[in-house]
Amino acid sequence: MKVKFYDSSREYHEKKDEFNQAIQSVLEKGNFILGNQVAELENEIQNYCQVNYAVGVASGTDALTIASDILGFSDGKEVITSPFTFLASASCISKHKGRPVFVDIDEETFGIDVNKIEEKVNANTVGILPIHLFNQMADMDQIMDIANRHQLRVLEDAAEAFGMRWKGKGSEYKHSGTIGDFGVFSFFPTKTLGGYGDGGMIITNNAELAQKAKQYRVHGASKKYFYDNVGYNSRLDTLQASVLLIKLKYIDEAIRKREKIAQLYMDRLSDCENIKFPKIKGEQKSVYYVFNILAERRDELAAYLAENEIGYSIYYPRPLHVQTCFKDLGYKKGDFPVAERIANEIIALPIYPELTTDEAEYVCAKIKAFYKK
Ligand SMILES: Cc1ncc(COP(=O)(O)O)c(C=O)c1O
Repeated sequence: MKVKFYDSSREYHEKKDEFNQAIQSVLEKGNFILGNQVAELENEIQNYCQVNYAVGVASGTDALTIASDILGFSDGKEVITSPFTFLASASCISKHKGRPVFVDIDEETFGIDVNKIEEKVNANTVGILPIHLFNQMADMDQIMDIANRHQLRVLEDAAEAFGMRWKGKGSEYKHSGTIGDFGVFSFFPTKTLGGYGDGGMIITNNAELAQKAKQYRVHGASKKYFYDNVGYNSRLDTLQASVLLIKLKYIDEAIRKREKIAQLYMDRLSDCENIKFPKIKGEQKSVYYVFNILAERRDELAAYLAENEIGYSIYYPRPLHVQTCFKDLGYKKGDFPVAERIANEIIALPIYPELTTDEAEYVCAKIKAFYKK
């Protein structure tokens, strides 16, 4: 058996007529730039996430870069974030000559250690950039408490967090990205809500920030050819919006299927002493966008999975503080020992809604066989 890490063609074939029709309708109309499907998707996401404003942009990276620009994460100002994340969570700050200030991660959740944030706040600090990743949101109660006491802006990187909710399921829940000043989603194809290409979205409850985001995605124009700021050319593509509208219809079912696979992995692998799972902390609804384990002899296990034609991924093999592009920040190996250790032990197993039970069982059987060798 061969198990791919991700295979978009399965969903496409299941719903081929719907996808083809949606794409064809854009081609027929020719409304490629900010067509009505973009506004429709923004409305649907506002409803789904219970947020006042949503602004579709070209990628999650652009969403972070634009939001950072608007929030003043720039010009030598400091923004506190995690070193154990995708590059874009910190490059959005340094792009505007702001300074990412890293703090180590929690060894059980692999997310930012909220107890280490406040000691880094100084007169130059303007923001906190929590990342909701590894299936759970960062502790937004503590983050908002620190932000409010020090008057900091909060940009939630919810690129991997579509569907995650803080404080449970009731009417009081808050969707990821809706608690800080801005939140951003990525619609990269593998994401929980993923398109057929790049795409992203900025969400906010603040009317003024939303208006700025709308202007910034069209070069900073307040009306056509009248520019209040120097902005970006970053619109969510109408073709992507038309695909995402279909994906959004089935999102709850897709999340449930991901959960089922995650549960199977946990059931089958819980007796394997060589493996640890991350812990979900805080009262929240997690979403299994990825399924990570900490594995003894990780690199050998990865080679064994590859030999057996099982896809895997490593998020992230090198923390950001030791990346060449951030050498000017002055960090060195040893500064964030938890992030550095987890980077050597973590490995992600295949998980996507169309992955079959047989495939997940096979992955578990092979992992167990590896450790019995
Ligand atoms: C945590 C995180 N932030 C930001 C991004 C950037 O999103 P995109 O790939 O859509 O630019 C990603 C996804 O790749 C991500 O995982």
